[in-house]
Parts: sequence; structure tokens; C-alpha cells
Amino acid sequence: MNIPLMVAWMCVFGALVHGLITTRHTNMKCEVQDESFVEVKECRLKVLGRGIIGANVYLKLKVLPVKTVQVNFSVWKKLSGYHPYLFNTTVNFCHILKHPNPSNIFFYFYREIRPYSNANHSCPINFFTQQHDIILKNFVLNEKMFSLFPVPTGNYMFAIKIMANDAWRATIFSYMDVTGDKS
Ligand SMILES: *[C@@H]1O[C@H](CO)[C@@H](O)[C@H](O)[C@H]1NC(C)=O
Ligand SMILES: *[C@@H]1O[C@H](CO)[C@@H](O)[C@H](O)[C@H]1NC(C)=O
Ligand SMILES: *[C@@H]1O[C@H](CO)[C@@H](O)[C@H](O)[C@H]1NC(C)=O
Repeated sequence: MNIPLMVAWMCVFGALVHGLITTRHTNMKCEVQDESFVEVKECRLKVLGRGIIGANVYLKLKVLPVKTVQVNFSVWKKLSGYHPYLFNTTVNFCHILKHPNPSNIFFYFYREIRPYSNANHSCPINFFTQQHDIILKNFVLNEKMFSLFPVPTGNYMFAIKIMANDAWRATIFSYMDVTGDKS
């Protein structure tokens, strides 16, 4: 490793160790692959306060029960265009709700999101479950979520592909900036 690179790396690492990075949602998109299955009622960022941005999603399920949910979760970093970065995993969502596993990278992020979401009950999701729509309310990114990984400053995209009852139904894209200063 050459010296400038090493210094750059140490700066990044130092920023992480000292919690000096700032993370911020910059955009959010929800794409529906199957409109007969799910309707997007809300998918947007909301300014909650100065510099505080919350992600809001409301997906109305039209076909119940939902017996299986698989999630393909991948992280992308923008260089010229978005390129895969660190994580790309497929999880059985129903299974992981029943058998939480913090060493699973999707679960690691999901655990942070869970307090802001009603998607915390196990499968099947059906008419007898009080909340059968999927809601995420005012989810604010937390720098601590990223303390375990190298997250150099830059623009990132999270892609969450949702397969339910064995077909691809929707995709959520969430965009985030990481900056180095805390001001
Ligand atoms: C993730 O892995 C799957 C196969 O396991 C592959 O088809 C897909 O293209 C990968 N996605 C990214 C972002 O690398
Ligand atoms: C699941 O979410 C609902 C609604 O947000 C909440 O009332 C309930 O306590 C949560 N349950 C668990 C196990 O987190
Ligand atoms: C999700 O990943 C699995 C395994 O890599 C693959 O079989 C499936 O087709 C993927 N789903 C989507 C919607 O890309």
C-alpha cells in the first residue's frame, strides 16, 4: 500500500472509529413489479427537522395471505454509475424473523429498521393479522449502523428486491450519502 493511500485509509478509519461520519438519506424509490399484488401508497423522504430525514414507505398488500417472503439485499456504491459494494445476499424473511441472526447482514440492518416498521410479525401475513400492510415510518439513518464496515465517504444505494409467494413483487431503492464531517 502506498503512503497517500494509507493516509487516506487511516482518515476514513479514524473517522469511523471516532464516529465522525454523517449519513443521510438522499432519495428513495419504490418500484412495483406486480400491481395486482401490491400498491405503493407512500414512498418518500420527509424532512423531520434540520438535517433530519426520515424514510416513509406504505405498501398495501392486495393478495393475502403472504406465505413466503424472500429478500435480495444488495449495496451499491457510486463511482461512474453504481457498482456492487460489499453486500449481496438473499434471505428468507419469514425464517429470519422467527430465528433472528445478528451475524446475517440483512438482519443486522433490519434490526435497526424494525422499531420504525410494523413488518415485525412472522408469516403468514393474512387478513386476520391486524396490520397486513407494510409500513415504515420516519426511519432515520443512524451512523452507528455503519460502525462495523468500511464506509468511505460517497454515495450509496441499497436495493431491496422483495419476492412474495415465490414471485418478484416490488423493489425498494434507498440512496444515502456518507460525508466525513459532523457539522
Ligand atoms: C447478487 O448475487 C446474485 C447471485 O447470487 C447475482 O445474480 C446478482 O447479480 C448479484 N447482485 C449484485 C448486486 O452483485
Ligand atoms: C410490531 O409492530 C407493532 C406496530 O408498530 C408494535 O405495536 C409491536 O409492539 C411490534 N412487535 C414487536 C414484537 O416488535
Ligand atoms: C434473489 O436471489 C436469488 C438467489 O440468488 C435468486 O434465485 C432470485 O432470482 C433473486 N430474485 C430477484 C428478484 O432478483
